[in-house]
Amino acid sequence: YSHFPNGDVIFLDRGDGSSALVHLFGATLLSWKCKGQENLFVSSTSKFDKKKAIRGGVPVVFPNFGPWPLGPQHGFARIKPWTVSIPPTKGQDGNVLTVLSLEDDEETRNMWDYKFKLVYTLELKEDSLVSSFSVHNTDSKSLGFTCLMHTYFRVADITSTAVSGLKGLAFTDKLKDGKQERETRDEVTIDRNYDRVYKNAPKTIQIVSGGNPSRKIELITFNLPDIVVWNPWEEKAKEMGDFDDLGYKEMICVEAGKVDEPVTLPAGQHYECSQTFKSLL
Ligand code: BG6
Repeated sequence: YSHFPNGDVIFLDRGDGSSALVHLFGATLLSWKCKGQENLFVSSTSKFDKKKAIRGGVPVVFPNFGPWPLGPQHGFARIKPWTVSIPPTKGQDGNVLTVLSLEDDEETRNMWDYKFKLVYTLELKEDSLVSSFSVHNTDSKSLGFTCLMHTYFRVADITSTAVSGLKGLAFTDKLKDGKQERETRDEVTIDRNYDRVYKNAPKTIQIVSGGNPSRKIELITFNLPDIVVWNPWEEKAKEMGDFDDLGYKEMICVEAGKVDEPVTLPAGQHYECSQTFKSLL
């Protein structure tokens, strides 16, 4: 990570092959390694210009998932510089914890006139990474939002990748008319441009991928009931200036969010949610 300017990234290292790298722009997790193996995808053509959202890793989507009349698509949290509240700190168990935060400022209030504080806590364990996200309403009025962890998982081969745990769920296909459908497959596989929002998923789902190296990752969520499965595939990847032309073969976005029904948060209250990645290999 030495090629990032000083102060742009923070590094969590257990010293046993488990590590995580976080860019403070957007609090974007760039890397999560477990037993030395990288599990996140970042496009080699991603812009790190601190203007455009980083293409890959885990950008934080808040306060709006998708197109937004008040500001940029997926909101502003992924394009704001976050503050380190607690630098990476190793506990007696060897786990490493860090806390980042973002508060409203003039720029955010110009788009979305609310006072808030976001707290993002990452805890790196031997075989897992726990990411807790809380939204504090520091305003005197109630606020509404959607949020999502836009995870780009790295896979060796998208054609041998499957997401399990989605069977029976209602979903909308954003590439179609938005009519609700129901998933019938035990294993969701992808062979073209995909953009689906699955509703009320179970707390644990799995991403299993073959090829070399193979991976098996459990995604455990709390208060993030919806799962977006996205892959731009060949043509759309080429249209995106910051997406490797062939990168779509090596990634799958499985994004845990609270997007189908927005959260309404009364003044002074907070919303807590989290996602945990656990490597089963
Ligand atoms: C996904 C959306 O979460 O993000 C897609 O469901 C979107 O519709 C994708 O294309 C990427 O968005 P962006 O703004 O990072 O290009």
